[in-house]
Amino acid sequence: MNVVGSFETVRQQTKGAVGLVPTMGFLHEGHLSLIEAARRRSDTVVVSVFVNPLQFGDAADLQAYPRDLDRDCHLAASAGADIVFAPDLEYMYPSTPQTTITVGAVSSGMEGEHRPGHFEGVATVVAKLLAGVQPERAFFGRKDAQQLAVVRTMVRDLSFPSEIIGVPIVREHDGLALSSRNVRLPSQDRHRAAALSKGLFIAADRFEAGERSAHALTGVARTSMEDDGLQPEYVTLASAGDAR
Ligand code: PAF
Repeated sequence: MNVVGSFETVRQQTKGAVGLVPTMGFLHEGHLSLIEAARRRSDTVVVSVFVNPLQFGDAADLQAYPRDLDRDCHLAASAGADIVFAPDLEYMYPSTPQTTITVGAVSSGMEGEHRPGHFEGVATVVAKLLAGVQPERAFFGRKDAQQLAVVRTMVRDLSFPSEIIGVPIVREHDGLALSSRNVRLPSQDRHRAAALSKGLFIAADRFEAGERSAHALTGVARTSMEDDGLQPEYVTLASAGDAR
């Protein structure tokens, strides 16, 4: 497996149908399931590892984001990647970009409201990755459901020729969705974090049992989380639509 730092080298080394798995590194089983999905549907699998400063609102959060490229390369290779594209910051952003991408309504609520500028940063870097790597398909986790919807909307609106594939969430044994950020949770918070998925599963069970009131469904999820000591920033029901 090759580790490369420029789009030109990626394009020189890819053959046939290219599958791209965009990541910010510190890979976990969720990323590996994306790489394995890409492997099944691609001749060449490219994993990008780039901690994108444009999507962080807080410099301390960016600074603290976990990084370990050697480990990432080892894991990516074991899951079937052919190329790790790990550009440096100066390559991706030689100067502050004058062109950024704002996706409309789908970016505006939920994470868009609580993390201003986040989806503009995500859409801009994903557009650069799609333009530079030119994959047939790009693979994203359904964990970041709003991100997936934002990317699908951008790809459709701007006629990128890549197909966007949503891959199911991978969870810890207690239900917590895998995330590179989980390693930053102190043990008491790690324990409490399972209350998020527990609350969502309770709401899903109510839906399966016939409840159709959004107010009731978000209410049971919120109550369950609060009973377990969490104060969620928001609990909202949204149509899966483009997040599948
Ligand atoms: O989901 C992520 O890890 C990031 O938002 C992405 C898509 C790699 C863009 O930096």
